[in-house]
Parts: sequence; C-alpha cells; structure tokens
Amino acid sequence: MKYLVGIDIGTSGTKVALFDFSGNPLCSHTAGYRLYQPHNGWAEQDPEDWWQAVCEGLRAVCHTADPAEIAGVGFSGQMHGLVMLGSDMRALRKSIIWCDQRSGRECGEITAAVGAEQLMRITKSPALTGFTASKLLWVRNNEPDTYERCHKVLLPKDYIRFRLTGELYMDVSDASGTQMLDIEKRAWSDYVLTKLEIDPSWLPPTCESFELAGKVTPGAAAETGLRSGTLVAAGAGDNAATAVGCGVIYRGRAFTSLGTSGVVFAHTDGPVWDTKGRIHNFCAATGGWHVLGSVQATGLSYTWFCDNFCQPEAELAKATGRSVWSILDELATTSPKGANRLIYLPYLMGERTPHLDPDLRGAFLGLSAIHTKADLLRALAEGVTYGLADCRSVLRELKITTESMIACGGGAASPFRRQMLADVFGIPVSTIKSEQGAVLGAALLAGVASGVYGSVEEACSIIQIESQNLPDPAAHAEYMKYYEIYRAAYPALKELYKRLTHIS
Ligand code: XUL
Repeated sequence: MKYLVGIDIGTSGTKVALFDFSGNPLCSHTAGYRLYQPHNGWAEQDPEDWWQAVCEGLRAVCHTADPAEIAGVGFSGQMHGLVMLGSDMRALRKSIIWCDQRSGRECGEITAAVGAEQLMRITKSPALTGFTASKLLWVRNNEPDTYERCHKVLLPKDYIRFRLTGELYMDVSDASGTQMLDIEKRAWSDYVLTKLEIDPSWLPPTCESFELAGKVTPGAAAETGLRSGTLVAAGAGDNAATAVGCGVIYRGRAFTSLGTSGVVFAHTDGPVWDTKGRIHNFCAATGGWHVLGSVQATGLSYTWFCDNFCQPEAELAKATGRSVWSILDELATTSPKGANRLIYLPYLMGERTPHLDPDLRGAFLGLSAIHTKADLLRALAEGVTYGLADCRSVLRELKITTESMIACGGGAASPFRRQMLADVFGIPVSTIKSEQGAVLGAALLAGVASGVYGSVEEACSIIQIESQNLPDPAAHAEYMKYYEIYRAAYPALKELYKRLTHIS
C-alpha cells in the first residue's frame, strides 16, 4: 500500500485528494455544486449533488493511481447540516446547511425545553440557528409530513460515508455541532434528546474521528473506482480535520481558516467554554477538545460579490487561465488600507462569533460616489478579516493562546490576504507546505484508522510549516482605526436589522 485519500465535502464544492504516506499531494480534483437559497437567510444543498461530486473526484483520483494501493479513505465535512433519511435510506428533503438562519423560533423552544444553563453545561453552546437540533425542530414545526417519515438523522459527510460503506456512524467532532451531544462525555445526551422529544434511534452510533467506520461496498466501488473493501475512516468536521492537516493538535497552536466560513481555532487541553456562548467548544479529532470562533460569510462574501458583480474579471480569468481570485486581489490592492474610508460588515447570513445574531445582514458602511469596485473589494477583504479579529479577541479574553497562527483554507492561498491577516492580528502568520488543510487532515485520519500511523500525533509529525508573513506595525496601527469603527457598527445597527427582518 502506498496512498491515502482525503475527501472534503465543502460548501462550494467537494475536493478529493490523493497523498503518499509522507503527506505529499499527488493529485486532486474539485467538483462544485449549487447552494439553494429559497428565502433570505435560508441555505440548502442537495445530498445527491455531494455524492455525485465525490464519485467524480474519486474516479479522477483512481484514474491516476492503482486503487489496490490505497490504504484508506477519510473525510472532512461541512458541519451542522441536517440530512434526514426515510426508512428506504434515501434523503427526505434537501439538507438545511450550517449557514441557514431560519430556526430562530426553534432556538427559543430548545432553550425553554432544556433550560439555558443545562444546555450550556451539556452542549457548551446556547441554542444556535446554525446547529442541527434547531433545524430538525424547524422541520417538525413546518414540514410535519417529512418529520413523520424520518428514520435517521445524519451530517453531510456521514451521509456520504454511508453511501460508500453502507454503515451508519457519526464521529464526535462533527456530532459536537448538532447540539445533541454531551461534549465532555463524548456521547449523545439522553437529557437533551428527551427534553427535545427527539427519537434517539434516529442518531447513529458515535465514534472517534481516527476510528474505522466501514469498508467500501462493491456497489460504491463500481460508482467511484475505489477497490471494494478499501478501509474507510470516520473522519471529522471540517475544522477538526483542518486542525489535523495543519498540526494544530497541541495547546498553544491555532489556525485561521479562510474558507466559505471563516474560523479562528485553537487546540485546548480540556473543555474550555465561554459562558456567553460566543465561541464553540467541540470534541477534537485527536480525542481531546478545541475551541473555535466562526465568521459565517468569509469566502461566501467573496463568492457573492464575484457572482454578482465580477463578470468581466471572470471572463478575463477564463481567457487567460488565471484564477479569478488573484485578479480580484490585484484590483483590491489598488485601493489603500481603509478602502478610502469604506467598511464592509460581512454579515450576509447573520453572524455567530461574537454576536450570535441570525437577523444581522451585511453592509458597506460609508459608501460614497468616489468608491470603485477596487474599494469595495478591498473593504470586503478587510471586513472579513475584522470579523476574524473579533473571533480571536474572544479567545484571548478566555486566555487561550493564539500567537502561533497558521493560515489555511482557500483564501490563504492569497499572499494579499495572508499579509492582511498578519497586519490586522499583529502577529506572524504561517502556512503549511502542502497547503491542503482539511483534505490532508482527512487523509491522515484514514492513515491512523488503517494502521499506517500509530496515532494522530505520529501522523501530524509529517506536517511542515512553509512560509511566514510578518506583521507590519504601521499597517496594524492603520487597520486598528477602522477596526474600532467596525466593532462599533453592530451595537449601533442591531435594532435596525431586527426591524428589517421582521417587516411583515
Ligand atoms: C463551524 C461551521 C463551519 C462549517 C462550514 O461551526 O459552521 O466551519 O463547518 O465550513
């Protein structure tokens, strides 16, 4: 055996990558799919689209390497998405995914049923629209026929693993985001399930991310090109998998992910949580715990802007073979720091850290007739970075060290955005050599499950830090003038957003 395969089921697409046992990427394939937004603040995806993307990626990878040499397959997946299966094990409806904000009323029901204190004690979070339980209750309240027919509840990657192996599992890192897990005990909470009147038989058995969770079935082998019987690891939620792929598995290490959502993540020795619930405390893929703050629309702000306003740049990218993101970066750098006094609030899908407010929406604050597309792009890059600075400031308030910071996720490929991160945070920001993050973490977990490595720690010893962006003190001071106004914007605007959301 020579290879490991990582599969990352993201929001904009699924990436499948082949690695050797030293973690060198040998080939990768990304297939995109749709995000359905039937109403303002709603977000759904079709589980069948995920499966087709996984099959396409695996076929591409298996075309370049002998499938008999693949020791194991592992997963990373977007967290929180509700996948409901009927008794025929088919999806009953599209998945209501992590950034969907429709379940504000159900969050109130959860708090009333479980009790605010008990909920914090057990799940380490207040009731959140982003988490799976409130989505499930929304279906109960609004689509009772679908709810009646429910037989199993899974998360995105667990559904795909089920399609690959025919077995049902949910690893505890991903289960942490359901609001049904006892985070300290790493097991389903009977108390929460009873209070919410959710049938425990709907939930699969839990396991650790580095454990084996089945083998590829002959049917899935025919669809994907994998060899029947290939070992499949449980895998992890995308942030827990990224932590493995970046070696953030010891206290004192942290990463910032510039993906569709943005995350500031730190490994902790044990459960450490914020009594205000502004950050999440989840089970880690190592068997330990971690904390993370989340900005809902980081890459999502970019894709929204690009899809709606950047047709010429998209055409230029196509004609020249360049990445549209590097063309947009080039444009953004023509605008000065502060974007000519323009501040972007990245709250397109509400906000989690630190505001926990599903009614928030985005804004360009200070828009003037002087502004150009370059200013809007610069403000967008700065606004999402200020959101990440908010996450880091909550971690610092909790005395969690975030001085050793790695940048990862799609946006970390941009030197412009990495430097901005270093300047806004005021600390050095590193990247890892392979730049693979989540998908490498998924493959390393497969390596542990299949016995290639003795432990997650041993697997992570292959990870190499590559480059470092050092902060420029003058740039930091300049950004802080705008960040102060960014921070003041939420208290000033929150009531207006509520009124806007509730106009009948
Ligand atoms: C974390 C979170 C996101 C999603 C999508 O709580 O919601 O990171 O996993 O990437």
